[in-house]
Amino acid sequence: MTRCDGVTVHAPAKINVGLAVGAVRSDGFHELTSVFLAVSLYDEVTATPARALTVTCEGPDADKVPLDQTNLAAHAAELLATLHNLPPNVHLHIAKNIPVAGGMAGGSANAAAALLACDALWRLGTPREDLLTICADLGSDVPFSLIGGAALGTGRGEKLTELPIAGAFHWVLAIAHEGLSTPVVFREFDRLAQGTRMPPPTIPQTLTHALAAGDATTLASALRNDLQPAALSLRPSLAATLAVGTEAGALAALVSGSGPTIAFLVTDAKAAAVIAAALTTSGTCRTARVVTAPAQGASVLPTPLGQGLGTAL
Ligand code: C5P
Repeated sequence: MTRCDGVTVHAPAKINVGLAVGAVRSDGFHELTSVFLAVSLYDEVTATPARALTVTCEGPDADKVPLDQTNLAAHAAELLATLHNLPPNVHLHIAKNIPVAGGMAGGSANAAAALLACDALWRLGTPREDLLTICADLGSDVPFSLIGGAALGTGRGEKLTELPIAGAFHWVLAIAHEGLSTPVVFREFDRLAQGTRMPPPTIPQTLTHALAAGDATTLASALRNDLQPAALSLRPSLAATLAVGTEAGALAALVSGSGPTIAFLVTDAKAAAVIAAALTTSGTCRTARVVTAPAQGASVLPTPLGQGLGTAL
């Protein structure tokens, strides 16, 4: 698949540098406050004209991605087509780098990318507000995949306020051999929290100030993820991964979202290379990836001039 066959959009993975989880709501979702940070690990979705809605996928986790209508990217194309009273005739090809069930919003990134790719392919010019409404219908993390950068999420995570962020933060991601199911991690959170009073989920201002100041040391001391104990309870081996990266010199570490990916905050690119090497040789994870933040949200990638739809978009 080459980019000039259609429209290619890439969308970033996220980590939650702050995730405060509150009580379960009547709709089954947890009230939460999240500080989302987009990192430079991307999935690409290419949309090409087709006679029906079809999905293909390539990448290390491709065998774990559903290719039917349950695929979040396919669902995104359907919702956009319905909004415009069109048949969802498109082929979506997903080039996957973000781990599946890794707590990094990989499926959400695919949905946001598919939405933007179909909007461009079908030349719809859907207002941003309408795209964000579709994103929120698709899943709690999908609106953030569209906007990227850094944002405060409330409600079930879908109500976003963009946050100021300065400079670049360096991270190493330890990607686990096997994923964890988000609903299962939330259920484990409920089991561990049984009998405790749930305060409203809040994030300390130190965290958002550290992002705004580009201050990695202060951010390191303010990182928080309420789902981490649940992820560690379900996957105790994550403790060994956390120990390797921390001993190799990371400023701080935390489980990303519902896990099992672990994000290590580091001082600079040099430290990142050292920690990634230590993680890889330790054998405590499948692979380690060096990334920076912030990354921009879902964006159309340039098509070679004069080919395909590139000049018309
Ligand atoms: O919104 P999304 O489909 O990504 O959520 C996946 C699952 O994670 C939900 O079905 C729910 O079990 C859990 N979840 C939750 N509270 C949230 C977000 C997700 O319990 N705020």
